[in-house]
Amino acid sequence: MKKVGILTGGADCPGLNSVIRAVVRKSIDEGFVVTGVKNGWSGLVDNDMRILDYKLTSGILARGGTILGTSRIVPPLEKRRINLITENFKRSGMDALITIGGEDTLKIALQLYREHALPIVGVPKSIDNALSGTDYTFGFDTAVNIATECIDRLHTTAESHHRIIVIEVMGLHTGWIALEAGIAGGAHYILMPEFPIEINKVCASLKARHKRGKSFSIIVVSEGAQIKGYTKEELDRKFNRGTHRVGRIGEVLADLIEEKTSYETRVSVLGHIQRGGIPTAYDRLLGTRLGFKAVELVKEGKFGKMVSLQNNKISYVDIEEAVKQRKMIDADLIEIAKVFYT
Ligand code: F6P
Repeated sequence: MKKVGILTGGADCPGLNSVIRAVVRKSIDEGFVVTGVKNGWSGLVDNDMRILDYKLTSGILARGGTILGTSRIVPPLEKRRINLITENFKRSGMDALITIGGEDTLKIALQLYREHALPIVGVPKSIDNALSGTDYTFGFDTAVNIATECIDRLHTTAESHHRIIVIEVMGLHTGWIALEAGIAGGAHYILMPEFPIEINKVCASLKARHKRGKSFSIIVVSEGAQIKGYTKEELDRKFNRGTHRVGRIGEVLADLIEEKTSYETRVSVLGHIQRGGIPTAYDRLLGTRLGFKAVELVKEGKFGKMVSLQNNKISYVDIEEAVKQRKMIDADLIEIAKVFYT
């Protein structure tokens, strides 16, 4: 019989509970015992854990967030916390630790596996879909569906009022959500962190649309997008916003568009709505498949690996592979999006 630990780290996302449920059910099937670590790596630092049984993990499949709680820790971990984590792990008697997380959480997992031989299996999660080594991360599909519904809703009001509406979606480093929700929601321009925004080009496209008789437009922008030719500080001064912080690019962009086109412009920041609530069927299924596979890897003693989706089959890669660089947005999708900019 094995004792398997499980934790969820970093930003929460819909589908986490489906992984926890699958890990517990598959483990019970194998005769293993599962210990849930509370609040990500902090739970191992503070020795905050409890046994997860059938009853505690029943009825959680459709619930967003994580029943284990989570916390954000930026890697690398310093010595004090490493020592506490490794000591508490040993004392708990766990034979393996299933770590569900994104870039930061899995970088810490890799550090603990490499430097302290902690028997870790990673499970990729992120609404951003920015992890390499897997075709998709669960949470992303739900976020895209939420953002698409919001775009649909904003479309009708933009049209009625003959306005430009700038919709800011999440994505600090990658434009996956903007790109997929933007195409699905029929955005007229999609702006992502990967390409600095050429404001004059965007405005020219809006003017061309107006000339064609379309008196409204929808622009989707990732929170991490930058405007070419302006530093963050310049934009903050220009629009008197004080210290720049993430979550403001939509407002800055809307102000610039209004200034350059005189079209009435509004902004809607979707924010954490994209991360909350019930997961889509796709994310529940993906989470369940990944959780099941993670227990299989524990059984086979394959550590330092991350379970992953590859060509719709569940497989695994080295954790290192997943965290060494972010997954680039799909070049084919960018070409498709561009057709609708004119
Ligand atoms: O990584 C997921 C994510 O939702 C990003 O898209 C976003 O930039 C960030 O987390 C927001 O983090 P927080 O919940 O700490 O505000």
